[in-house]
Amino acid sequence: MAEKKAEEIFTAFKEHSIAEFFKKNRQMLGYSGKIRSLVTIVHEYATNSLDAAEEAGILPSVRISVSEKGEDRYMVSITDNGPGIPKSYVGKALATILAGTKFHRYVQQRGQQGIGAAGCTLFSQMTTGKQILVKCSTGTGKGYTCKISIDTVKNKPVVSDMVDMPDLPRGLSVEGEFAEVKYENSDHGILEYLKRTALSNPHAEITFVDPTGQEHKFPRSVQVMPERPEPAQPHPLGLYVNDLLEYAHASQERKISSFLQENFARVSSGKVAELRELVKDVDFDKDPKQLSWDDSEKLIKAFKQVKWIAPESTHIKPIGEDQIRLAMKNIFEPEFMHVVERKTALLKGGIPFIVEAAVSFGGFSGRKTDEGHEATVMRFANRVPLLFDSGTCAITIAAKNVDWKRYNLDVEKMPLSIFVNVSSVHIPYTGVGKESIAQEDEIIEEIRLALMEAARGVQKYVSGKMRAHHEATRYNTIMRYAKQLSLDLSSITSKDQKALEKAIEKLVASKIPQAGVKDEETAEGTEQGEAAEEEE
Ligand SMILES: Nc1ncnc2c1ncn2[C@@H]1O[C@H](COP(=O)(O)OP(=O)(O)OP(=O)(O)O)[C@@H](O)[C@H]1O
Ligand SMILES: [Mg+2]
Repeated sequence: MAEKKAEEIFTAFKEHSIAEFFKKNRQMLGYSGKIRSLVTIVHEYATNSLDAAEEAGILPSVRISVSEKGEDRYMVSITDNGPGIPKSYVGKALATILAGTKFHRYVQQRGQQGIGAAGCTLFSQMTTGKQILVKCSTGTGKGYTCKISIDTVKNKPVVSDMVDMPDLPRGLSVEGEFAEVKYENSDHGILEYLKRTALSNPHAEITFVDPTGQEHKFPRSVQVMPERPEPAQPHPLGLYVNDLLEYAHASQERKISSFLQENFARVSSGKVAELRELVKDVDFDKDPKQLSWDDSEKLIKAFKQVKWIAPESTHIKPIGEDQIRLAMKNIFEPEFMHVVERKTALLKGGIPFIVEAAVSFGGFSGRKTDEGHEATVMRFANRVPLLFDSGTCAITIAAKNVDWKRYNLDVEKMPLSIFVNVSSVHIPYTGVGKESIAQEDEIIEEIRLALMEAARGVQKYVSGKMRAHHEATRYNTIMRYAKQLSLDLSSITSKDQKALEKAIEKLVASKIPQAGVKDEETAEGTEQGEAAEEEE
């Protein structure tokens, strides 16, 4: 075969937009498999609604409705009571990939990338050729409706049919038709996703109308807004050479010394003095715009030699022990549970994160099986339930690393719900679809420690319950022979049979005291007996 020249090969050279890329690689956005694709749509819109309402300081109310339009074809609509999107931004926000209010900020939110909503718009137009219908108002008199789609070649929004609707209530409503999707009521379905969303967002009110028309309501169990996480500044330990250079060149400060103090967490004038000592050949009084790649490399190296105070935890807001307990109680009505909140820990690169875990026993905890029950693990990241890709997720790996038997917990037979939420300014997901947390050693270890503590918390209750069950079985077995024994004794001794039977019963009860103990009482004395006690 004749060799081809580069010039000839390169006649096929073309540039593509990010929208074209995701059109070809939709599985990266979570659009693989019909059931998963439908959950992804609801997940993207619902997380946006919760983020938006919280940022505006509004207790979120979200209504989701899914109806069947044909084989593997559904209409999805989501309405929230959030701040809405100004008319001039609606196209960019919902129909441009990699555009949004979150990507460039260092704030703990559910959304991170500016891809989710535009991904839905793209998926609808790819599978049905239709546009997304938007109804929105940012306040009294500022309502409008329009239709949006993406010009995928340019990754630009196409907005049409814009009509003012002054009477619309505040909030955003999106409605789209999607094909190659399927509704299923399973552990991986929308209902389960929303149930878990309600669990990790007790301050939200969620209503879901399923394709049969049935309405599922998840009322608010907490009437106060969660505290808002403060925007964080990057910690020097989290920076790469290029980051520092970009920050420096965009900076408004006049000197490198003030640039470092103003833009990064934990950089005090004392730390700048230490850095000056370590990198003598960088002039800290020069304009940060003059910072060279070489200077940046030296600074990054010096950052690693300085002793830093850990980043502040005010930037991360976990769900909170009380709220998790309340939500678990609402949803699982467990006999007992133990909730754990770990202290702030640090990811490689200086990014702080907090792990919360809970284990509940009994009630609707766990999953029913043919033989009885088994444990379920519920994974969350920044309060968002993760339903897919569990095999690769740090939470699954950590749960597998716990020796549950050591705590008398049998994950294959007991009604246990295991809950883990990881909160961070930046969750290291394994993919754009954000369904699985990367297996960073620090995260796995924190989750493992949290789960061990939670397991220890329920151990005493479960052991007490097992002991009581065991004793009750022994008591009943022996009692089965009490009558016969009293009859035999009566015939030998001629004593009253009834009196003998009573005496035997009394004797057995005194030897097996636990037999008469109620399950709930065994919870007393454990740290978190309240759940069971309050149920009483
Ligand atoms: N319900 C909503 N109310 C108000 N603004 C919204 C709403 N949904 C989306 N937005 C705006 O649109 C932007 C883009 O949303 P999109 O889901 O594409 O990205 P994101 O949420 O920023 O990140 P991610 O890709 O991780 O979801 C958001 O950053 C937000 O500014
Ligand atoms: Mg989003």
